[in-house]
Amino acid sequence: MEALGIDVGGSGIKAAPVDLHTGKRIRKRKRIATPQPSTPEAVYDVIEELVASFDWRGPIGCAVPSVVRNGVVYTAANIDDSWIGRNAASELTGRLGHPVHLLNDADAAGLAENVLGAARDLDGVVILLTLGTGIGSAIFTDGVLVPNTELGHLEFRGGDAEHYAAARVVAAGLDQAAWALRLNEYLQYVESVLPPDYFILGGGISKNFDQYSSVLDTRAEVVPARFRNRAGIIGAALATGGVA
Ligand code: BGC
Repeated sequence: MEALGIDVGGSGIKAAPVDLHTGKRIRKRKRIATPQPSTPEAVYDVIEELVASFDWRGPIGCAVPSVVRNGVVYTAANIDDSWIGRNAASELTGRLGHPVHLLNDADAAGLAENVLGAARDLDGVVILLTLGTGIGSAIFTDGVLVPNTELGHLEFRGGDAEHYAAARVVAAGLDQAAWALRLNEYLQYVESVLPPDYFILGGGISKNFDQYSSVLDTRAEVVPARFRNRAGIIGAALATGGVA
């Protein structure tokens, strides 16, 4: 079985058809820059273009940087505020003529890691954190997702934790070693309020995990994600429900 996975981010909208049994993308991923302002209509236009470019006629999963309940968007972190209150799942389904499953991007990434990746054989409480422009979180307990957690927005050091410890601070010029110390402080903070058995670190910067893992000092074991930046697309595809 296959589904089209779409990952809407603040800077790019990425899509690829995914084999739901292996998590492999069966066609090369396509990316279109996120329109500005990133209103629902402007993003729907891009999604429609991506769906047409794959000539896709099957199930579609779409990950967004938002709290999503029953298809309705409740928050908008790196996309336009006008998403809030919209039933984007039913609007996209109507527009594309195929069922669209909508979910939070970190929950999608967590799903990919849980079903096919780094969390596959982990029992207990697992917290996946996506480290990118923001910090997304997905919490699993014995493989069951607690959806829509927003641990990147915990107040930490006088502001939003993601402003302090997301990977974007490295992109903005802080060196990786200094960032890793911030990440360690943040993980210890999360652990003090919600102690997991494992942290899984995702996002592009997880490919450098070996360069900074030695400074991470938590009781929970910390492991790098398997799918990194691909996890959103893969998890969005898996969320369509086509896999056992
Ligand atoms: C958003 C989350 C999202 C994360 C990663 C945060 O700013 O609030 O919903 O998962 O960024 O994109």
